[in-house]
Amino acid sequence: MGKSAVTLKIGILGSGSGSNMVSIVDAIERGKLNAEVKVVLSDVRDAKILERAQQHRIPCQWIDCAPYRTKLDDQAEQRCVQILNAYEVDTVVLAGFMRIIKPGLLQAFPERIINIHPALLPAFPGIQAWKQALDYGAKLAGCTVHFVDQGTDTGPIIIQRSVPILPDDTYETLHARIQVEEHIAYPEALRLLAAGRLRINDRKVEILKESRGAP
Ligand code: GAR
Repeated sequence: MGKSAVTLKIGILGSGSGSNMVSIVDAIERGKLNAEVKVVLSDVRDAKILERAQQHRIPCQWIDCAPYRTKLDDQAEQRCVQILNAYEVDTVVLAGFMRIIKPGLLQAFPERIINIHPALLPAFPGIQAWKQALDYGAKLAGCTVHFVDQGTDTGPIIIQRSVPILPDDTYETLHARIQVEEHIAYPEALRLLAAGRLRINDRKVEILKESRGAP
């Protein structure tokens, strides 16, 4: 952390539609992010993220995570670590991955697992955070990109972007507005990581100044 610029070798884990994955791939293709997506893994056999990975010719696989619904069992976790290592991944990106990450995976990639959460943490951790914010009557919502630690949505925060909650919002309109910001925040956080500009001090993420002549 906080070292010189590198090309990130990213492994993406996702359970859903994969729009965040696409925003990352787009940033790479436009030359805005110094990274390669080496592999995409999903716990959902027919997840759209796998279809979209195929469209971008990125290796992808379904990981059978039975019997639990909200976490990886030990076997599935080991399988993920094996595959990520086989693809020489150095940065694990959770993009709508709806399972809790356990110590085995965390220890395999210390301070190299990143998540995006659809709320301004520490408010509204857990599932369907945009619904929680709307139901609570909050006036602001947003997204948070953070390093993953042992807790649920508790790791050091890299970037947050906010959006207003409007009087006539539905769950769908609010989530769509948050996703527009997610697609800016995730590539930006990864760009800072690739540039060696993130340093964690006592759970606070310091964003180092850009060095002269940096890409
Ligand atoms: C995103 O809004 C992401 O923040 C959320 O799932 C959605 C996935 O969308 N993640 C979580 O709720 C994790 N707790 P995508 O599949 O289109 O990227």
